[in-house]
Order: sequence, then C-alpha cells, then structure tokens
Amino acid sequence: MTRQKFIQDTFEQIFSHKSEQVAHAPGRVNLIGDHTDYNDGFVLPVAINFGTDVAASKRNDRIIRVYAHDCGQETIEFSLDDITFDPNNMWGNYVKGTIKVLQESDTAFFKGLSGANIAISGNVPQGAGLSSSASLEIAILNIMVKLYDLSLDGVTAAKLGQSAENNFVGCNCGIMDQLISAMGKQGSAMLLDCQDFSFEDALIPDDISLFIVNSNVKRGLVDSEYNLRREQCEAVAKHFGSTTLREVSLAQLNKARAELDPVLFQRAHHVLTENERTVNALDALNRNDMPRLSQLMADSHTSLRDDFAVSTVKVDALVEIMQEVVGSQGGVRMTGGGFGGCVVAAVKSDLVKQLSDAVNSKYPKVSGLTPDIYICAPSQGAFRA
Ligand code: GLA
Repeated sequence: MTRQKFIQDTFEQIFSHKSEQVAHAPGRVNLIGDHTDYNDGFVLPVAINFGTDVAASKRNDRIIRVYAHDCGQETIEFSLDDITFDPNNMWGNYVKGTIKVLQESDTAFFKGLSGANIAISGNVPQGAGLSSSASLEIAILNIMVKLYDLSLDGVTAAKLGQSAENNFVGCNCGIMDQLISAMGKQGSAMLLDCQDFSFEDALIPDDISLFIVNSNVKRGLVDSEYNLRREQCEAVAKHFGSTTLREVSLAQLNKARAELDPVLFQRAHHVLTENERTVNALDALNRNDMPRLSQLMADSHTSLRDDFAVSTVKVDALVEIMQEVVGSQGGVRMTGGGFGGCVVAAVKSDLVKQLSDAVNSKYPKVSGLTPDIYICAPSQGAFRA
C-alpha cells in the first residue's frame, strides 16, 4: 500500500468520512554546512524519501482536530481562536505553531481558515537530525494550502515553518530544514544561500548513494545547547559590529583572535570555514570529484567536533568506522544539529554493502547501540513545481 493510500484509509477510520485532500513533505539530510544557516551562511541539504503524509477535510466550527498515527496514535483538538503551547505534547506544538503563524501571516495570500480534521503519519526517524519536525510543519502548510486554496510559495512556507519553531516551539533554528523540505528537487542536492534564500540545484551523480546511519545516541539538551551555540555566534558577530557572521571574513576573525574568548573564536571559526567548505562541496559534487568531497566532509566533521563541539564520542566512532571503508571514494560526517543523531555518507554505490557490513558489525561493539541504516533517494520538496 502506498503511504498516500495508508493515510487516506487511516483518516477515514478515525474521522468516519473520506478526506478531501492529501499532502506530503519530505525530511532532509544535510550533506555539508551545519550550524551555518542561522549565521546567514551556506548549506547543501537534500530532501529524502522519508517524510510526513497528511490527509484532511474542512470543518466550519473553527476547531482543528489532529490524529497522529506515529506519535502514540494520539488525538488533540484546539480552537483556531485559542492556540496555546502544551509542554506535555510536543508533536502537537509543531502543528499548533504552524497553524498559528499561518493565521497571523500576510493577508495577501491568506483568506482565513474555518477548521479541519487532520490525520498525520510520518516515517522520518524522530530526534535523529533528519528534520521530522520541519517535514511536519511543511506538510501541515501544504495541506492547508490545498484545503483552503491559498497561494503560498515555498520560500514563504519555509519562513512560516521556521517562525513556528522560533516563536511557538522555542527552538531558534535556521531556515535550512523547512526550505529544503519545501523546495528540494528530485535527484538533486541544493546549495542554499541563507542570506538571501537564493538556491542552486546540484544533481547527485547516479553512481552516488546517500547512506545514512542513525547512531541512536539519544539527543539530550538539544534545544538549549542549540540556542546557546546561536547566541555564541551572534556574540562574535556583535564584536565586529555586525548582525551575522556572514559579514565577517575569516581573515578578520583570525586577526582578532586575541581579543576574543577562545570558545567564541572556535565557534565562529567553524562557521566561517564551514561556509567555504560548503561552496567548495557544490563544485566537487558537480564535477563528481569524490576525493575532494571526501576531504571537505571529513574537515567538516572535525570542525563540528572540535570547534563547534556538537558531536559525541559514539558518533565520532561511527564516522571513523565509515571513513575506513569509504576512504577517498566518498564523504562521511555527522549531519544536522548534532548531540547524537545521524551520520551521512555520500559514497560510490558499489561500496554500500561493505559499508553496511562494517557499521553493523563494528558500531555495536564500540557503542553498545544498534545502528539503523537508511539508503535514501534525493526527493522532491512539497512546494517545488
Ligand atoms: C537543525 C536546525 C537547522 C540547522 C541545523 C544545523 O537541524 O533546525 O536550522 O541549524 O540544525 O545545521
């Protein structure tokens, strides 16, 4: 059964009538460029064939009733006139926040909502750094666009999703996850300039596989550590009289090293070097230059580990196990926000079997954890024509 049929059937079972619309939004994996988006820098993510599916029908009583199949089969209900944060129901907060920012958004495209029944099912592993939350936000916006015939473009949808997280959920994330979920292109990665939201698609060569491993290291303190990293970056930008690190050059940073707190220097050093690596990685990908991509992704991991301090010992061990197999025939690094979660490899497809065997046999021994492996296909974003 397709996932679309599954969510339609589930909707009918729960609400006892047929759904009017279905929508989908993908999760993502980031090939390189982490913790650069909220510094107005560059990122190179890919939308993946894991995502969130939604079926819905309109209501006229200003009630939103939502069933989440993969979050304990829970149902929540709220009024469009009273949308409040519930500390005991996180998935619900993403839905509520998204609908709240949509309601409060520019009236140019927004004609008002009158309520909805919604059923949700997703297969993006949660808390793994593959953006299950952004995929949920973009799927909710996509279904509202279809139900209410709104003219919402993908970049605006991404900004609304980000605003739901920043202003309702309380995570000061950047724009990357929502933008790639909305605007990714099938078969491609996207170099996104987070300063002006311009992007360029980069075809992923046919002989390259996206091999993703969930370390299953449980992520703790994620939002507070994430927000702290962002504050540290902003503090360095402020030191230079700028609002973001994008306006600061690496030469300027190095020159001012003695004036800066050593930890703040490291944080900014990661961001500025990562921007360079990300732009160079696009070039490497376009040329199918695996040795170069390999070096750039390895340097990115080292920088996230040492300068930005968002990796963990077990994730580092997993990266090493994978790098041993991949060598210069592909890149390997932690991906996403960090503090656990996934490792991504972009590798020659004929290495996949050997890589799986190495991960399955070696990682449990060093970590005491069982890895989950996903071979992903680069997929289309929800709002991409
Ligand atoms: C999370 C955030 C993104 C980005 C990454 C790190 O996924 O949601 O905005 O900052 O972390 O690159």
